[in-house]
Amino acid sequence: MDLMEYIESHRKNHLNELLEFLRIPSVSTKSEHKPDIERAARWVADKLRAAGVDTVEIVPTKMHPLVYGEAMHAPGKPTVLFYGHYDVQPPEPLELWTSPAFEPTVRDGNLYARGTADDKGQVHIHLKALESLQKAAGRLPVNVKVLIEGEEEVGSESLWGFVTQNKQRLKADALVVSDTAMIARGVPSITYGLRGLNYYQIEITGPAQDLHSGVFGGAVPNPLNILCELFAKLHDKNFRVAIPAFYKDVAPLSRAERRALNALPWDEKDFRKTVGAPGLCGEKGYSIIEQLWCRPTLDLNGIWGGYTGEGSKTVIPSVAHAKFSTRLVPNQNPEKISRILEQHIRRLLPKTVKCKFELLSTGKPWVAPYKHPIFRAAQQALEKGFGKKAVFIREGGSIPFVTQMHDTFEVPCVLIGFGLPDENAHAPDEHIALENYFGGIKAVAHFYRALAGL
Ligand code: BES
Ligand code: MN
Ligand code: MN
Repeated sequence: MDLMEYIESHRKNHLNELLEFLRIPSVSTKSEHKPDIERAARWVADKLRAAGVDTVEIVPTKMHPLVYGEAMHAPGKPTVLFYGHYDVQPPEPLELWTSPAFEPTVRDGNLYARGTADDKGQVHIHLKALESLQKAAGRLPVNVKVLIEGEEEVGSESLWGFVTQNKQRLKADALVVSDTAMIARGVPSITYGLRGLNYYQIEITGPAQDLHSGVFGGAVPNPLNILCELFAKLHDKNFRVAIPAFYKDVAPLSRAERRALNALPWDEKDFRKTVGAPGLCGEKGYSIIEQLWCRPTLDLNGIWGGYTGEGSKTVIPSVAHAKFSTRLVPNQNPEKISRILEQHIRRLLPKTVKCKFELLSTGKPWVAPYKHPIFRAAQQALEKGFGKKAVFIREGGSIPFVTQMHDTFEVPCVLIGFGLPDENAHAPDEHIALENYFGGIKAVAHFYRALAGL
């Protein structure tokens, strides 16, 4: 049967199967979901087998299992490694979902559920593209290795051990990932750059225990005040990070790249609408696209301490905490950034408090040229699937595995994303446009088939 006919005639089956996947609440950060994580891993393994990937194993790790499979039946043809993740972010706050996070629902051409865009829906696109190729032609056109992990949303800690122990096995001519977005509706996009991510936690301790703020306030250090003062000093009035040497290693953007990025079909009005804030702010001297994709940032992710319950409690807290992160760009070095940041913070803090500084996770930035013929093949396949020319973009998010693979194997990494910037990844009402899910299956099938000719 013709490949496109096969895909077209299986739309219902494909969608129903995706709903099944989405109903498994595979939240990687919560231990109560451990059985769901394992169920999701088994589910992925079963579907891989159905797609013609014959040697599939569920690899246990210190935390969550990863699923690895191979179909090496195309001698003389290239080998691709496809990577994705089956774990999802927690759904909270639950009351902000229009329909429950793990009860997938179609509304206005979109499919709503946690994991639709990030990343179960996109993983499923590949599973169904491979299966369609297998069913329509009786075999896969290229050699395929598949690695689907369950810890992406918590920093991919176990993954690196697996990669270093299985270097030979994972060898491929290219890495293919679908865990990003298209720049705008109707504009298929290939991502050639991601920011890196360092995640930190800090604990500031003043008095040995909480104190009555009337009896003691005015004479003793308040760690919450001090924490807020500290973070207020970390940006200047031009929204630059006010840490000496923070920008020192940042690679300047070439004029040609700036021109190309700023000419992309990107609409500031849509962006403002998606953000929904009364206004925007960002580093002076850079366009919004450049601020999002090409410039490093420092952001608080959470701050707590003292009394936050109902009503009031007059207290000087003993301890204050904050979680914060830096997004990094070439050629910043994550370890070096962490060092200078800690040094700077310790220098700013008064001697009246103690400070514990922790680096919870690190990830390098990634930008790579897209000259290899595989990028042309990806562009053409996307054009066939979506009827529109694909553009090359960078993105602000992070996928630690991409950098690791690129550094280790020095192979081209092709990031073809089928999400959209306003699909609420990590937020309530996450969704994927059905046209991108179905178009994605066609485009990816074209892509794998085209790789046989490279
Ligand atoms: N799929 C995202 C990464 C992403 C999002 C890339 C948007 C490009 C555009 C991934 O699942 C993710 O959320 N990554 C985390 C990092 C991870 C270490 C927790 C991130 O970027 O915050
Ligand atoms: Mn993701
Ligand atoms: Mn994510």
